[in-house]
Amino acid sequence: MIRCEELVKIYKTADLEVVALQGLDMRVEDGELMAIIGNSGSGKSTLLNMLGGLDKPSAGKLFVDGKDLLAFGEKELVKYKRETVGFVWQNNARNLIPYLTALENVELPILLKGRRRRARAIELLEAVGLGHRLRNKLSELSGGEQQRVAIAIALANEPRLLLADEPTGSLDTKTSDQVLDLFRNLNHTLGITVVIVTHDPLLARKVNRVVQIRDGKTSAEMIRRESYADELARLDAEHLQAERQSHIEYAVLDKAGRLQIPAGYLDAEGFKDSNKVRVELEEGRIILYPQEMTP
Ligand SMILES: Nc1ncnc2c1ncn2[C@@H]1O[C@H](COP(=O)(O)OP(=O)(O)OP(=O)(O)O)[C@@H](O)[C@H]1O
Ligand SMILES: [Mg+2]
Repeated sequence: MIRCEELVKIYKTADLEVVALQGLDMRVEDGELMAIIGNSGSGKSTLLNMLGGLDKPSAGKLFVDGKDLLAFGEKELVKYKRETVGFVWQNNARNLIPYLTALENVELPILLKGRRRRARAIELLEAVGLGHRLRNKLSELSGGEQQRVAIAIALANEPRLLLADEPTGSLDTKTSDQVLDLFRNLNHTLGITVVIVTHDPLLARKVNRVVQIRDGKTSAEMIRRESYADELARLDAEHLQAERQSHIEYAVLDKAGRLQIPAGYLDAEGFKDSNKVRVELEEGRIILYPQEMTP
């Protein structure tokens, strides 16, 4: 569904250049539900905006659903944004109009006309569990309910890819759990690919794959040992036995052979004092020695 290669984004302001993405590689399979995590300023929103066609990469390759986003003209971009992707933000005021009802808000972006349009809006609100709140004004809904209206809108034109930037950032734990359950549900029933940017490690733990971004590059991937459904079933059976590592963490090696060492490891004895390491291949392992310990 998504293939980014050596993706670069440079923001130019009056007297300053910010390199927000510096050669980022990432692939997402069709039908996957995955999360992107990383510190503030690491480039998560920048990446999501590129994927959503809201901004253009400075260099690199970016394919979504087989389409080359760097080759798009204005017209193709509008079509792509309308038909291929749905977008959900943390601050849903960006998509919603407070004095309209939930139903009216969802009807707005639907491309159908008349009765079919209304029927589709109702169907979408029912899909996100808001069938009983159709006629309420947005301002009469809770934060979690408003977020679900935003998700219904993002699904309005049957996108193949749903992008969510901190969708639970302003919700409490219980409500963000429900929103995540909804994403999982939509992923399962509609087969829609879902990419969620989050700060929330608990939320990230509930998806099968987590990609970590550091300084505009993918630095690590956490891949679940068993499917979330299996894990829940097992935990159920074992009555929530002691916390177990649910994901295995991998560092990401790029095509040019570059690797980001996990931040904490660089504090180890010997690595602080020099920017050179000795790299040795030993019985199928690659071993790094600090310069002073070179054998
Ligand atoms: N429009 C812009 N103009 C200039 N610099 C920008 C712009 N948007 C983002 N940046 C810079 O690019 C870098 C990446 O920003 P980005 O918003 O992608 O981070 P993020 O990972 O989403 O952070 P957060 O978790 O705080 O949302 C930051 O250094 C940021 O200051
Ligand atoms: Mg962001």
